[in-house]
Amino acid sequence: MSGPVRIEVMHGVNLNMLGQREPEHYGTLTLAELEREIEGYAAELGVVTRFFRSNFEGEYVEHLHNLGELVDAVVLNPGAWTHYAWAIHDALLCSSLPAVEVHLSDLRAREPWRQLSVIEDLCIESFSGEGPAGYRRALRCLRDHLGGGAGA
Ligand code: DQA
Repeated sequence: MSGPVRIEVMHGVNLNMLGQREPEHYGTLTLAELEREIEGYAAELGVVTRFFRSNFEGEYVEHLHNLGELVDAVVLNPGAWTHYAWAIHDALLCSSLPAVEVHLSDLRAREPWRQLSVIEDLCIESFSGEGPAGYRRALRCLRDHLGGGAGA
């Protein structure tokens, strides 16, 4: 692969409310702060990130359709869509991109309805309950999978 690995980070429904929303589960960073943190991890790992977020499932689906050649891989935190939005599963399948799933909170320790992830079968890895550090692991996992970048 020539050049750094390019990774799209896609935040879904209600993640714009980070910082105000249930800090016991999601921490105190706002989404903008979280994205800056992720950019720092990307710089350390020698990968390039782009960000997308939406509260509209159709927009999220269409963004996956349009990623095409723009990136090499995708990190998804679809929020509650994770648990029921099969259209996002199918759109991710259409994208054919290597994917990793991240959740700030520990899904295994939460309600039964959060135990199902409809995208898990399409993801190389799922990181849950590690807060922002889960995104670092996701970027690293995709970088290593694609054999690009260097360092940490
Ligand atoms: C979440 C977990 C989901 O169950 C929840 O609906 C979210 C955030 C997480 O990052 O922990 O909105 O994806």
